[in-house]
Amino acid sequence: MDRVVSGIRPTGYLHLGNYFGALRNFIKMQEENECFFFIADYHSLTTHPTPQDLHTNVKNILVEYIAAGLDPEKATIYVQSDVPQVCELSLLLSMNVYVGELQRVASFKEKVRRQPDNVNAGLLTYPVLMAADILLHRADKVPVGKDQEQHLELTRDFAQRFNRIYKNEYFKLPVAYNFGSELVKIPGLDGSTKMSKSDNENSCIYLADSPEVIRKKVMKAVSDSGPAAPGEPKSQAVENLFQLMRAVSSPDTVQYFEDQYQSCSIRYGDMKKQLAADIIAFNSPVFERIQELRSMDDYISKVARQGAEKARESAERTIRDIRSIIGIKQF
Ligand code: ADP
Ligand code: TRP
Repeated sequence: MDRVVSGIRPTGYLHLGNYFGALRNFIKMQEENECFFFIADYHSLTTHPTPQDLHTNVKNILVEYIAAGLDPEKATIYVQSDVPQVCELSLLLSMNVYVGELQRVASFKEKVRRQPDNVNAGLLTYPVLMAADILLHRADKVPVGKDQEQHLELTRDFAQRFNRIYKNEYFKLPVAYNFGSELVKIPGLDGSTKMSKSDNENSCIYLADSPEVIRKKVMKAVSDSGPAAPGEPKSQAVENLFQLMRAVSSPDTVQYFEDQYQSCSIRYGDMKKQLAADIIAFNSPVFERIQELRSMDDYISKVARQGAEKARESAERTIRDIRSIIGIKQF
């Protein structure tokens, strides 16, 4: 069985983009692999959340993961900071990582551009901690989006370097796992091509949104004044509505509105009403489960504790091996 590791930073509620782009694939993968899915709370500290926000965000993601279909009996679901062995591996790896190569990472350069007042060392060493997350469980596959591919390449570099320096084959070289043609990018409600909470909160529909909120958001989504002539190409905003519809509605429904668009008889109000209804139908089981789980603190703690225990077992094995390979021996 292949080992799979993936993490998500707890920076707010999960939206439909996170669901279709990541979570849905995790749910599929847990059936046939040994999966470790964790909440990357250490990573999220680069943005300096308040203690209250940090804790709430971690709990929300745990709840949403489970509500959406991750099964704690099948996958190991844990909070990164519950497995502090990752810090030791990160430190050990960092001795053979060069500052120059970290400074050249695209996501680091982007952060320097975007937040020049907070270029902390955690941002620079982010890829080392991420490599440690992955190598800690000696993963074969890492399900991530395009934006994370460079980080994964570095993970392979660090693993290979370790193997070379210590003349062994301890680390496997993990590969990015994406679902090829099934990989979708969910667009925003604001006319942007990507639903993203970090770019624009208003672009998002959250799994935790109630039916009323979803309806309001969809009815307010950006569209245009309608096609003036048959065959006119769609504006980005309208294409977005169609893409969202393809994710949640039946093919017949999508075709119906396609035909209406092509014949210039489309009424966006009707389309949005249908889209809202279909998103609500799709999301309501998850929404209801989120409400239930939010008050099940004991259950959530149990899942986190069980996950941490399983993850620590796997982590301790790796740390023991690595210490011995490096020559850290007990007296
Ligand atoms: P955000 O852009 O809202 O801050 P994150 O960067 O936290 O989202 O994304 C977490 C995961 O969800 C990543 O694996 C990313 O590939 C996936 N993801 C985020 N937004 C989308 C989207 N609009 N469509 C598809 N996948 C997405
Ligand atoms: N960097 C990832 C992101 O921003 C989150 C992450 C941290 C991760 N550690 C990981 C993803 C290990 C996969 C494997 O989305």
